[in-house]
Amino acid sequence: MKPTALTFPRGFVWGAGTSAYQIEGAAKEDGRGPSIWDGFAPAHGDTGEVACDHYHRYREDVALMKELGLAAYRFSVAWPRVQPDGRGAINTGGLDFYDRLTDELLAAGIAPYVTLYHWDLPRALEDDGGWTSRDTAWRFADYARAVHARLGDRVDTWLTVNEPFVQASLGYGIGLHAPGRLSPAETVFAVGHHMLLAHGLGVRALRAEGARRIGIPLNLSPVLTPDQVADPSATLPEPDAHAVEQVDAVLNRQFLDAVLRGKYPAGLPEAHVRPGDLEIISEPIDVLGVNYYAPTIVRAEPGAPPNPAYPGVEGVRFSDSHVTATAMGWPIVPNGLSLLLRQLARRYPGVELVVAENGAAFSDVVRSGAVADADRTAFLDEHLRAVRHAIADGVPCKGYFVWSLMDNFEWAEGYRRTFGIVHVDFDTQLRTVKDSGRWYREVIRHNGLPV
Ligand code: NOJ
Repeated sequence: MKPTALTFPRGFVWGAGTSAYQIEGAAKEDGRGPSIWDGFAPAHGDTGEVACDHYHRYREDVALMKELGLAAYRFSVAWPRVQPDGRGAINTGGLDFYDRLTDELLAAGIAPYVTLYHWDLPRALEDDGGWTSRDTAWRFADYARAVHARLGDRVDTWLTVNEPFVQASLGYGIGLHAPGRLSPAETVFAVGHHMLLAHGLGVRALRAEGARRIGIPLNLSPVLTPDQVADPSATLPEPDAHAVEQVDAVLNRQFLDAVLRGKYPAGLPEAHVRPGDLEIISEPIDVLGVNYYAPTIVRAEPGAPPNPAYPGVEGVRFSDSHVTATAMGWPIVPNGLSLLLRQLARRYPGVELVVAENGAAFSDVVRSGAVADADRTAFLDEHLRAVRHAIADGVPCKGYFVWSLMDNFEWAEGYRRTFGIVHVDFDTQLRTVKDSGRWYREVIRHNGLPV
């Protein structure tokens, strides 16, 4: 790679991310209790029982991160390892693993970014209502305190609950993710609210324990019409503007406005909201984690069939075709990321942004010990350019985490969709750095992109 022209600000944090259930395996070891994902069998039949066997191979994996030159690594702690029943007694054997991992990272000069909850709810809590129950939020705060008590002397950055929209909608709304429930719209909104309450109570608990930097990773997606994808400045006819507004409220502002403004967008069900809840939810945070993959492309269409993943949204057609898309079928629109970052900086001034997830699934082939994933490299390159442009416009974006460090259990898609910059052979557990990983190492080394 040539010396770069598109340099990033000094101290920009280069990272990669994973989550516990997607990589750890060791589902029954050291006292781990069952989570809602154990035994939840999506159509393909894959499970995270072994996954990348990271629980046993974390040293090798940290060595790989070091080789890539990562400044930070985002991983999640499995609540069922720490509290097998989701409440009460702490299983120190489960915390030991994260203690070892944290030390290994620090010894390699890599900053741990700890996500406390990445969808693997202890099954015992689900049996008591899971996220439909308010009590789960208080249980989360207790659990957060316990993890901080063990790691807080070495971890600076804490992320509370990952992508509450996705768990509420796919897990409790349409049953595509664990716990596989099919609930009415009001329940889905209540689940989102309880996860936000967990976030707010978690922020309070962590803050009281002295945590230095706290945030929440949200799945955020600019809502655009097909015209706007082609030309972001396109003006919208009123019905389309209304369609965009509705989807944006459910998908993005339900969470952003609650956390950063202390109120829900008008028109969302609020029967489950109690006095004082929004003060808890809007407890100040230090960093907003932006998980961006694609824009959400919509247009107004009276009588369009309702999309069950977006409760309450009516008269909207979700576009499912786009010229270029990843193996997930997600449209590739790098400009969507700069639009999103600029929009966030404008609408919610004062909070630092970190791209906590961005990446793509493509079909990979290992040939002579290498993976020539030019499509993924191009995806990452274009999205990083988008981040750089937003920074040039004054957006306070302080870091970028590739999703994912390595191929892993992609939830409803199992192992057939791979996002890693490191390839994992799930028969042999052999890791192979893909070409995109080698490219990323050069980007990190130069703190920037080639001209
Ligand atoms: C969001 C989730 O946080 C992560 O677990 C998932 O693998 C990626 N998006 C890709 O779908």
